[in-house]
Amino acid sequence: MRDAAPTTIYLKDYTPFGFTVDDVHLTFDLSPNATRVTSRITFSPNPDAADHTFFLHGEELKLIRASIDGQPVLPNVTDKGLTCDVPNAPFVWEAEVEVDPAGNTALEGLYMSNGMYCTQCEAEGFRKITYYPDRPDVMSTFTVRINGTEKVMLSNGNPTDQGDGFAEWHDPWPKPAYLFALVAGDLINHPDRFTTKSGKDVELNIWVRPGDEGKCAFGMEALKKSMTWDEDVYGREYDLDVFNIVAVDDFNMGAMENKGLNIFNSSCVLASPETSTDDNFERIEAIIAHEYFHNWTGNRITCRDWFQLCLKEGLTVFRDAQFTADMRSEPVKRIRDVIDLRGRQFPEDNGPLSHPVRPESFVEINNFYTATVYEKGAELIGMLKTLVGDEAYAKALDLYFDRHDGDAATIEDWLQVFADATGRDLSQFKRWYSQAGTPRVAVSEDYSEGIYTLTLKQSTPATPGQDTKQPQVIPVAVGLLGPNGDEVAETRILELTEAEQSFTFDGLAAKPTPSILRGFSAPVILEHDTSSAQRAFLLSHDTDPFNRWDAGRSLARETLLTMITDGAAPSGAYLDGVQAVLRDDTLDPAYRALMLGLPGQSELAAALHDGGTTPDPQAIWSATETLRQAQAQHMQDLLPRLHGEAQVSAPYLPDADQSGRRALGSAALSLITRLDGGALAAAEYAKADNMTLQLSALGCLIRAGKGEAELQAFYDQWKDDRLVIDKWFGLQVSLADPEHTATVAQTLTQHADFNWKNPNRFRAVFGALAMNHAGFHHASGTAYELLAEWLIQLDPVNPQTTARMCSAFQTWRRYDEGCQTLIGAQLDRIAATPQLSRDVTEMITRIRG
Ligand code: PHE
Ligand code: ZN
Repeated sequence: MRDAAPTTIYLKDYTPFGFTVDDVHLTFDLSPNATRVTSRITFSPNPDAADHTFFLHGEELKLIRASIDGQPVLPNVTDKGLTCDVPNAPFVWEAEVEVDPAGNTALEGLYMSNGMYCTQCEAEGFRKITYYPDRPDVMSTFTVRINGTEKVMLSNGNPTDQGDGFAEWHDPWPKPAYLFALVAGDLINHPDRFTTKSGKDVELNIWVRPGDEGKCAFGMEALKKSMTWDEDVYGREYDLDVFNIVAVDDFNMGAMENKGLNIFNSSCVLASPETSTDDNFERIEAIIAHEYFHNWTGNRITCRDWFQLCLKEGLTVFRDAQFTADMRSEPVKRIRDVIDLRGRQFPEDNGPLSHPVRPESFVEINNFYTATVYEKGAELIGMLKTLVGDEAYAKALDLYFDRHDGDAATIEDWLQVFADATGRDLSQFKRWYSQAGTPRVAVSEDYSEGIYTLTLKQSTPATPGQDTKQPQVIPVAVGLLGPNGDEVAETRILELTEAEQSFTFDGLAAKPTPSILRGFSAPVILEHDTSSAQRAFLLSHDTDPFNRWDAGRSLARETLLTMITDGAAPSGAYLDGVQAVLRDDTLDPAYRALMLGLPGQSELAAALHDGGTTPDPQAIWSATETLRQAQAQHMQDLLPRLHGEAQVSAPYLPDADQSGRRALGSAALSLITRLDGGALAAAEYAKADNMTLQLSALGCLIRAGKGEAELQAFYDQWKDDRLVIDKWFGLQVSLADPEHTATVAQTLTQHADFNWKNPNRFRAVFGALAMNHAGFHHASGTAYELLAEWLIQLDPVNPQTTARMCSAFQTWRRYDEGCQTLIGAQLDRIAATPQLSRDVTEMITRIRG
């Protein structure tokens, strides 16, 4: 588990494995502390490889015996794997190993969660199950036999046989080991069926712990919708007789796309109106779709090596976003994704952890399942589609599936498909994959004699290991509005390829107002010095829903920044402009709810830092509170009507329509609470009959410093529902007053239900602590200290979840010397911990810079 000198792996060092694997047979004899895994694998020398050293990965395995072609062998075993002399011809390798699932707290490999066996193999967990070439470019069919006493015993592919104490599975599709999965436990299924467009009947199951069977129906509907959508939109059919989903309580990530046997964090699949919020439902629908879509983009076509992770993740995130846009509202989905990108990916791309969408080196691959690889990776797909057009995109994707089905592919393969399908030279576009950092696009305008000229200038700040940047291809969607608000030039895609470039629009009767970067056509930061009058004009007239929203957002940002730096009063242009949009009943309530949102406090800190001011988290918090109060007062008369939107008389449905109405109603309730001290929220809490309304009312009360009784009542009501209790933990920390955030978090860690080894529970408290900007960055430093203490405690138990949480410190260089000294001390303290995992060592080293 520990490395004396962690080694760095480089993309440029890729070489193929010396052998191909023709067939894998695995037998599991299950036992909590001593599971036996017997493997029988046929290897052949790989004619494409230069090096024929026979090295199999293997970690934390007890080797019982090994043989080649039936003859016992004594391999040379280290803590990383084994080597052995092998024939220069096809041979059969057999090995028996012992593993300890019950003792596996890292939740990687074969482990136990609430008495049930399950696996997690991506990225490099299969080597904790048996000796194997654990790399994605080695693909094989798998046959699995499970011997055990569990009622349900599952693996990948199709069931071939089962009886008393055993089950057998065969997966006919060659796959890399990271897609292997096994589940065994006393589970209950929620069954259904699906007929593919070519008429194949598929059995569908969602497997859960007894007691959770009532929370599967929504996930099942989402699965069937995903299957239909992938057929309709991408022409992709499912390819096995069964598709199984299993809910697991202890899981490091959201979910995993194992072939035919997706394993989900229970928080990402279980849903009911009483226990899940509208946002939970939307997220569950998206994750089910995401994992299902991986069957083609990830499984049928996989990655040659882990540097190509964005090949499957960027594309699959892009596909699930398209799906959500189709199922719900396209502009609302786009706005939410951009909020997320700015909130999570931009800080990463502009700090010490900045790395390209396709990294060139890593120490621990688990540290690269990042917002950059996933979300910026998805933005790159969106830009490609914008640049080549929808038809060419569809043609390129067909070619990709045709050409690379069954392959372990690279970004070069992906781009070649687009080049071949469209005749376009994509060499400059490729820089998006290799250059880290968020490009800035500065805008200047000129208008004379009917000709309007837009000059765009791009630059990307230096990032770790990349001092200078080359210009990238940036698709900038632009439309023009005339003085009366009419659109005088429809959306046009400007292709910015040089450092600086001008674009002209002619035949204009008057100087237009530009609407730039419509639909957020590229993941960049736009620098455009315009008056707040111009922004307010766009807020009331822009025909592009994204930019209309973003005009409001930039007005809010601007007023908050001047409130913080100059002590200015909240801007009337902002308050009036937003109020006018909110009054417009023809607009989607979900869209109006988004209009009421403010830029996050961490985003404001980044903007201040970018502009040369050291951010003061307390001042940012106060300004945000002041603006919220001003909004409440300004819209006093309108708020009851907005709140009334949430009063849905029809039975609860987590669809776009109803959830949009509840989102608007809840946003209004939180403003009303600032005026009435919580009277309405308390009444709403008392009558809430779904989790969305219950939680939003509770949140209002906590924020108002009230709600102690409700918090207790909520706990008593839900103490047996672990997913709801996660919310109970998280809400208290995320809404705590900055003065008390660390104390609230610290007190919750003493609670009997604080099972810190469960990643969901740990993240509920510490994820919320890191997200409470002013509370986390309180000048006392107690929050930093608390987080560091718990990261040190969790690391030996679960390095992967610990390492992910270290990113809470990634923005530390933005803040004043006092904060930097305090955080620096905690980073040193973590780094000095004996036996620190490779995962956390890499994160802390990069963050310290
Ligand atoms: N591949 C998973 C997904 O994006 C994420 C994951 C990575 C899950 C590593 C577990 C471990 O769908
Ligand atoms: Zn994925």
